[in-house]
This record gives sequence, C-alpha cells and structure tokens, in this order.
Amino acid sequence: MTRKRLMAGNWKMNKTIGEAVVLAQEICNQYEEKWDDACDVVVCPPFVDLKPAKTVFEFDRVPIGVGAQNVHWEESGAFTGEISVPMLKEIGCEWCIIGHSERRGYFGETNEEVNKKAKALIAGQIKPIICVGESLAVRDEGTTLDFVTAQVIAAFAGIDAAQAVKCVVAYEPIWAIGTGRTATPEQAQEVCAAIRATLAELFGQATADEMRVLYGGSMNPGNVDLLIAQPDIDGGLIGGAALKKESFVQLIEACLK
Ligand code: 13P
Repeated sequence: MTRKRLMAGNWKMNKTIGEAVVLAQEICNQYEEKWDDACDVVVCPPFVDLKPAKTVFEFDRVPIGVGAQNVHWEESGAFTGEISVPMLKEIGCEWCIIGHSERRGYFGETNEEVNKKAKALIAGQIKPIICVGESLAVRDEGTTLDFVTAQVIAAFAGIDAAQAVKCVVAYEPIWAIGTGRTATPEQAQEVCAAIRATLAELFGQATADEMRVLYGGSMNPGNVDLLIAQPDIDGGLIGGAALKKESFVQLIEACLK
C-alpha cells in the first residue's frame, strides 16, 4: 500500500498578513512539479492569513493547500471569537488541524469537542488533521499507547469508514513539541503503528492502510529522513521548521528521495 506523503506546516500564532504573503510566495517560488508526485503540501497559518496565502497559491497556480488550526462545530451563531466550517470553506481552505496539544492544554479542548469538530469538518468536506499525543508524565508512566489509542477512539466516535478515510491523524508527543527533543524514529513508529492498528480495529485494515498518519514534534531537515522512512509515518506536521522557507522546502524535498 503506498500512501501519498503529506507535509503540513503549522504556523501556530506566527506571521502577520504581510509576513504570511512573503512566506507563501517564497514557498511558491521554490515549487517544482515533482513535489506534487511525492507529497501533498499544506500550510496552516492563522485564520487572518488563510485567504492571503490561498490567493498567493492560486495566483501562481501551485497545488499547495491551506488549512486552519481550529474550527467551531456549529455553522453559525452566538459563539464570539469562533470560526465555522462554512467560513473556512468559502476561503478555499481544504484542511483543518484539530485537537492540537496546545489547544487541549491552553484552551481546554476535550476529546468530545475534537470529535464534534471532526464530524463538522467531514460534513463540510474539509479534511481534519486530528492531533493526538502524550505528555512526558504519561510516557514516563509507560501508558503512552493506551493514552494515544483512547484519544484516537474518542476522536472517531460515530464516524464511519467512508468518513474516516478523509481524515489524517498526527502523532505529536507533547514533550517533543518546540523542545528540539524529537521522538526517535523507533518511538514515533511504535505509536504511529499503534494508531494504525486502532484505525484498523475501528474501520478495517483496508481503510487503515489508506489513511495517513503523520509525526510532529521538532521535525527538521536533520531528522526527517529517518522519521519518514518508518513504515507507518506518512509525513510531518511541522511547527518551527515550517516558518522558514529553507527548512520547510528541505522537509518537502526529503519526500522526493
Ligand atoms: P515543532 O515542530 O515546533 O516542534 O511543532 C510541532 C507542532 O506542534 C506542529 O503542530
């Protein structure tokens, strides 16, 4: 089973509109057709940058997608400060990160909310990138696989195989995010394989084999090769290294090898 790789940059709360347009244009300028054969490329900037980044990619006719970093599950209403699926849809946003550990940790996002967001995105034909991952305390306790498996099961509650296949799961150990401390390829593979095994239990092996599982957490040009060489790692969700054209392009080009 060959899955097309996916390299997604999570810009987090970085880049004003002006800065976002510059970075999007710099990535565009490096674009080569062979990227598209090797992997899907997506950037996930802050909400206000989505349309400007999308416009750059459309104007240059490059197949680089844009994704949001969060969404609300209701279509509209009195939810001050929130953004809905139809709003993202109109921008041409094709992807959306949900359940990032920073949202879970700083903003109290729960497994139930992640599940509601996943369902709303699927209904609106935006592909969810569902983040899961354990804290250092959980890893030290030795319960990582149970913890991550429970997050996956909760995120996909009430979702069927035909819907699940549209989703991506990103394994991001919290202790590796922004710390420069990457999971070893073996640690990352072990959890990504457990995620795929869980998806197989939920949706059948054929569906699990089609779904992409990403690794995220201090992925950089120096460690990408060994990580994406693992059988159950289909690409990366990249923070810091996605904020600079040089390193993001190097990560994409690692998929060409
Ligand atoms: P870093 O690559 O900066 O560790 O961030 C990873 C991440 O959280 C991507 O969503």
